[in-house]
Amino acid sequence: MRFTLPAASLIALVAEVVANTEKVIFTAPSAITIPNIRPGLDDLSLDVLSPAGLRTLETNLAVQFPSDTAPRGVQSWYLLKGLEAGRRYEVRACWPATQPTEFWLDVHNLTHVFETPLLISSLADYSEQRQHPGLQAPRHAEPEATSQSVLLLQVHSAADYFTSNRTLMEHPPAVDVDIILDPFLLNILPQSLGPTALYITVLTAGSFFLSGAIYNWLYRIAEIPKPHTD
Ligand SMILES: *[C@@H]1O[C@H](CO)[C@@H](O)[C@H](O)[C@H]1NC(C)=O
Ligand SMILES: *[C@@H]1O[C@H](CO)[C@@H](O)[C@H](O)[C@H]1NC(C)=O
Repeated sequence: MRFTLPAASLIALVAEVVANTEKVIFTAPSAITIPNIRPGLDDLSLDVLSPAGLRTLETNLAVQFPSDTAPRGVQSWYLLKGLEAGRRYEVRACWPATQPTEFWLDVHNLTHVFETPLLISSLADYSEQRQHPGLQAPRHAEPEATSQSVLLLQVHSAADYFTSNRTLMEHPPAVDVDIILDPFLLNILPQSLGPTALYITVLTAGSFFLSGAIYNWLYRIAEIPKPHTD
């Protein structure tokens, strides 16, 4: 019993050290009708995350050291599709602590991106990098315009360390990242944290009753009979 507590804290500490997380929490916008015209959203060649489809994207992202022209390093874009309007979601980026990196996650609605020159040009650049002429996968034509809640996720990644090795400073290696889309349960809690939250609740309730029992016990043994006054 004496070793339980330090061991538990050690495990928590190790878990903290081996992976870093950056996240953004947002509410899905109302559904919009996306006309089935070319070029459409699919032609941007972005990786897609959706609650019903791929929820964890394992990827590796190019990074740069922050510079005057790119203070947040390299940008990449993702499509969040098939969201449930009005529901809260969290997107997390998780990466190994052995690859010190700084991430910034931002979600934007389509209107906002298309009306903001800085965003649309960044999206266009990224999309262009991902196009491989002649390698375009044949797209299954969607029969009609679809109405759904979509958002664009913008990720910035910058290397966050210093090395005297010039080669490494100019070409920092790509970072292994998991990008995770997590719907909130009852709009309060990320779904994947459900079991942990349940455990903490049980633990809290348990310690509440336990401390109550200890308190009662202490109270009883401390209850010294009043001296008689006669
Ligand atoms: C889109 O995003 C902008 C900026 O965040 C916001 O002002 C606007 O209300 C949003 N539009 C919709 C339809 O959600
Ligand atoms: C710098 O880093 C590169 C890549 O890791 C390595 O190949 C090279 O040997 C290093 N140079 C020096 C001087 O340490």
